[in-house]
Amino acid sequence: MSERRRVIGSEQIEEAFRKGRLTFEILPGDIVTALAKETAQGRGIKLLDGPLEKAAVARTDGGTALMRGLTRRSPKWVAPRSSAPRNIRRLNKIALIGAGGVGGNIGHLAANADMVDEIALIDIVPGLAESAALDLMHASGITRSKTKLYGGSDLALVKDADVIVVTAGKARSPGMTRADLISINRRVIQSAAEQIKTQAPNSIVIVVTNPLDEMTTEMLRATEFPRERVLGMAGTLDSSRFRNALAEAAGVYPADVEAVTIGSHGDEMVPITSLAKIKGRAVSAFLSQDVIDDCAHKAIHGGGAVVALKKTGSATIAPAHSSLELIDHIRGARVGSVPVSVELKGEYGIDGVVLGVPCHLGQSGLVEVEQLRLTEKEKTALHAAADAIRQRLAN
Ligand code: LAC
Repeated sequence: MSERRRVIGSEQIEEAFRKGRLTFEILPGDIVTALAKETAQGRGIKLLDGPLEKAAVARTDGGTALMRGLTRRSPKWVAPRSSAPRNIRRLNKIALIGAGGVGGNIGHLAANADMVDEIALIDIVPGLAESAALDLMHASGITRSKTKLYGGSDLALVKDADVIVVTAGKARSPGMTRADLISINRRVIQSAAEQIKTQAPNSIVIVVTNPLDEMTTEMLRATEFPRERVLGMAGTLDSSRFRNALAEAAGVYPADVEAVTIGSHGDEMVPITSLAKIKGRAVSAFLSQDVIDDCAHKAIHGGGAVVALKKTGSATIAPAHSSLELIDHIRGARVGSVPVSVELKGEYGIDGVVLGVPCHLGQSGLVEVEQLRLTEKEKTALHAAADAIRQRLAN
């Protein structure tokens, strides 16, 4: 990470607001905090990808200059060309392998956002993907979404997708850990990978199937795709749970909280309390250590809490939103970093293990792993997560 990289927080946005600015220039490599984004939205300030073209001084010839002088119309300044719009990409195709609770909700959110031309839903349960697609198409008369959805049970429907989200596999029942699913879901990932490799060799794959880090590793191995194009969705969800817990405890809105979790999507999750902020200040200014620890516990066990209440499966809505968040980062609709499970290649002193870390994403998937300044305790916990994942895969 370059020394000159700026961290744009809510203070900078507030400052721009006080100065009456309507836009804020984000330079390549800048890190924009979640709170800064929220503040910008609340204050009506547009975050623009820079460097922006500056207003040009009107060039003119002698004759025109003379005329301006004579007519006292001498504008030295011309309105700048509107700065280049953020390059938000509309996707051609998203394929969803698994059309159950998470897959179906991703289809719903993506269709509503009208961000993609077509969505293929795929599920081995006869009629499930087809019915979900039909149901969503029926809503288009109201939503006016131009997205075309279709479904089937043939994995070859992933053909030519830009992004493939894999949610297929068995979900936990009460009392099960995510790790209990390794042997069952490994086979699901392998057959999905076989088709992805041949039908959509340039796609970016987002794995949601549990155990997340292990299944993302399986996908990486089975597709033989570069690490940039095999991402695991978990940290986004866990961080959202962590922010929600901190917001509830502090009596503020989740938008006032910046916090991430890294590590595994399981017991070795590492909620980063040292960098967590409420309204731009350290969480310790608002909450006692016991309460902060309780919030971390809620993030780690949030998925289990839903399973225990639901009894017949796991969470669907928050995982779907979290998956969409990754797709938005990929297509340039979000700036800043987002926690993702990726294969580390020396970052944080870890090599060859897939686990959650904050990442910058772009149209080819992973752009860069962001290196956070962690406390010794957090570093140790991250390494323990890597060891646990490595060990589970070796068994
Ligand atoms: C959860 C599942 C998706 O955490 O792993 O809810």
